[in-house]
Amino acid sequence: MRIYCSVSVSAWIVVLLTGVNALDHGRVWQRQSPFLISNKATEFDEWVNKQIQHTLDGILANIGPDGANVAYGNVNPGVVVASPSKDAPNYYYHWVRDGAITMGSLVQEYSETGNETIKKILDAYVDNARSTQITANPSGTFEHLSGLGEPKFETDGRPFQGDWGRPQRDGPALRAVCLISYAKVLMEKEKSSMESLKYLYKVIKPDLEYVSNSWAIPGYDLWEEVQGLHFFTAMAQYQALILGVDFSTDMNDPGAAAWYHTQANGLERFLLAFWDDERGHLVSTLGSPRSGLDAAILLASIHSNGLYPYPMHNDAVIASLQALVADMRGRYPINDEDSTLSDTEPAAVAIGRYPEDVYNGGDGRSGDLGNPWFLCTASVAHVLYGLVEHLALSPGSLVISNLTAEFYLPFIVSSPELKASYYDFSTTAVSTRSETILAFEPSSNETQNIIESVMEYADGFLKVVRRHSDVQGEFSEQFDRTTGFMRGARQLTWSYEAVRGAVKMRGRAQDAIRRRAIYMGEVASLQQRAKL
Ligand code: NOJ
Ligand code: NOJ
Repeated sequence: MRIYCSVSVSAWIVVLLTGVNALDHGRVWQRQSPFLISNKATEFDEWVNKQIQHTLDGILANIGPDGANVAYGNVNPGVVVASPSKDAPNYYYHWVRDGAITMGSLVQEYSETGNETIKKILDAYVDNARSTQITANPSGTFEHLSGLGEPKFETDGRPFQGDWGRPQRDGPALRAVCLISYAKVLMEKEKSSMESLKYLYKVIKPDLEYVSNSWAIPGYDLWEEVQGLHFFTAMAQYQALILGVDFSTDMNDPGAAAWYHTQANGLERFLLAFWDDERGHLVSTLGSPRSGLDAAILLASIHSNGLYPYPMHNDAVIASLQALVADMRGRYPINDEDSTLSDTEPAAVAIGRYPEDVYNGGDGRSGDLGNPWFLCTASVAHVLYGLVEHLALSPGSLVISNLTAEFYLPFIVSSPELKASYYDFSTTAVSTRSETILAFEPSSNETQNIIESVMEYADGFLKVVRRHSDVQGEFSEQFDRTTGFMRGARQLTWSYEAVRGAVKMRGRAQDAIRRRAIYMGEVASLQQRAKL
């Protein structure tokens, strides 16, 4: 009963603050009395709230040895199975990337709840990371560090011997990020001594060495298809080294800290190369014949946890999101149908990996074109919630630049002249630098409107996710571009992690909106008093 009450109270607050207006399709900025709100919004809020537990269950079900989907399935403790699907497609492996990203969400869970069961899983993951590292495999060995680039292992720890796109250099970076975050939680929460964290450093350091010595060498991308230098990989590597500088300092290893620092500086400059001035967005792989648009850009920002140079609210990231969504909107037949259902303007739509994708999920069914993915659609919601949090908490003006004008334009309502000034601008040459073309005072109605509209737009992407999951609420890897039904590997661990990440970020965005309302109220009453 108590849970029910708190759910409906928070739903109420959301409704009040966001002015969700399901009755007035396409005109999100007109706020109506909350009494007129249909229970559509509440129902969605309930679904979102359920995802906190549901996605955790989905994740835990795929972790060995006891997860419901993998128990007695030859899965070592701490191994994250990508999906219980053993054929069409066979995803019954431990991918280093999927494992590290998933365990990262459990580190967060442990830090918030102190749940001992989660801690046992994390400790098993640490042990497993060590044995994975030292297992010789087709990418190489531990002694030469080359073995750390191996993308996937059998669930019982044996190396995978088949042909594969290897090495993939994001894995060790993501694992280091996950383990350093875990070490930090142990330090802060349990006051673990530096001495007792040495065992963790023993696992973390080889990954940091791998990253710091090989970030400039090409490898396969996160989608395991193309060899090259990739934004997602570089972002993960950069974050690993930045965290590594502090952690190796804590571990009394100043020589390593200095080396990681130098390499992080190099990577930071390298990351700037992914901005493509002519296209007006970041590109996923350097020198690739593809468009460069890719949900991997958003995933990179999400998993870099707010780190400079590309946090979620960054203009280059938002410009890339805008271009990706614009492409995807026209790409999949279901998006025509979905957009008529969407109550936001512009409509939220289903998002796939990248425009040129032809991987149909390997489920033996027809279709030689790519489909939308749950984790890619959730990543758009996640970045937008990150933007909302930033906008709501930032004390300065809301600045619209040449890079983000196209994104913000539909959300600007106040005056036609403002829009006209954008169009004037857009006929001039695109500039390398981000230049302010419009700015709104933090307390302006326009700022408030934009924040609310972006929030609603973000919710739209989670609504797409919800719409295409099945009656049990399960998430596979993909959903069909034409029918909308789920495809590809079933119960994909990463899908659950991605929905979970977006939902958690939504909570932070709502919190930020509440804090902003309180702050604005206080400022207004101070101004009122000053006048009296
Ligand atoms: C399986 C990979 O994991 C997937 O990312 C890729 O698109 C297909 N193989 C096709 O290469
Ligand atoms: C295919 C995806 O492209 C890749 O990123 C992922 O690691 C594997 N599937 C396993 O989920």
